[in-house]
Amino acid sequence: MEKTFALIGHPVAHSLSPIMHNAAFKSLELPHIYVKFDVQPQRLKDAVIGMKALGIGGFNVTVPHKVAILPYLDEVDEQASVIGAVNTVVNENGRWIGTNTDGRGFLLSLQDVAGDRLPDCRVLMIGAGGAARAAAAALDEEGVKRLDVANRTLEKAHGIKTGPAHRTDGTVVSLAEAEECVGEYDIIINTTSVGLHPNAEAMPISLSRLRERTIVADLIYNPLKTKWLRVAEEKGAVVMNGVGMFVAQGALAFERWTGYAPDRRLMRRIVLDELGGERS
Ligand code: ATR
Repeated sequence: MEKTFALIGHPVAHSLSPIMHNAAFKSLELPHIYVKFDVQPQRLKDAVIGMKALGIGGFNVTVPHKVAILPYLDEVDEQASVIGAVNTVVNENGRWIGTNTDGRGFLLSLQDVAGDRLPDCRVLMIGAGGAARAAAAALDEEGVKRLDVANRTLEKAHGIKTGPAHRTDGTVVSLAEAEECVGEYDIIINTTSVGLHPNAEAMPISLSRLRERTIVADLIYNPLKTKWLRVAEEKGAVVMNGVGMFVAQGALAFERWTGYAPDRRLMRRIVLDELGGERS
């Protein structure tokens, strides 16, 4: 049966989710479509109710609705509760169930690079916003040796260590301390928006003390290679941008909605084509 899936956010004009999901539906010969709706914050509740009446099969949620949507859903699963935000809503027997695939999406993309070394890794996370909470929850569930969190606002970093990352050893550090200790980590992840287009030359922290072969990840994918990743690469790091996480969070949502695992390589190619990048 043909179903409609959707993205709600504000703005959504430049989202790559429709093109990615529609390509995946087509490749599996599923008769579904994915559309985007620009929903003003004050119309969020009406939109959630309206989508049920319209028989929408499920939807993604993006900025600024990921937290605000919680009260309008019939249920929020544990993953989304721990993170405190919803990025995917599933229609289960007419009930809206909120979940969050960002963290597991991040983990899948990191595992592509780190393989099975994660349990032995000391990780530094920079940033403590929504994306950081999702990534921290997934790392905490997977189990890493240590997870330190650095953020401009230290209180929010403490919120991660007492919330989504409470089971994992580690501490809160200032951005200045993080710069000093950069050489002590196996994996360093930028979850902040520092370096995002159009401020592509900004860096979240200096990498002057970086060790070779450290994995340096940036959740940003526009630009595909931030200045921070360029500097890390020059210093011999293994770098990863945010495309893998974006694709994997979409693939996990797709699987929840349809029961089919989509072709992540195809989805990645579509996204990279749109962003004008290499198909690696
Ligand atoms: P997201 O949902 O994408 O994670 P967010 O919740 O707004 O977005 O979080 C943004 C993150 O980027 C925060 O960690 C923020 O730091 P603060 O908690 O101190 O606000 C960080 N960030 C944004 N702009 C920054 C800047 N110019 N310098 C340092 N950190 C910045």
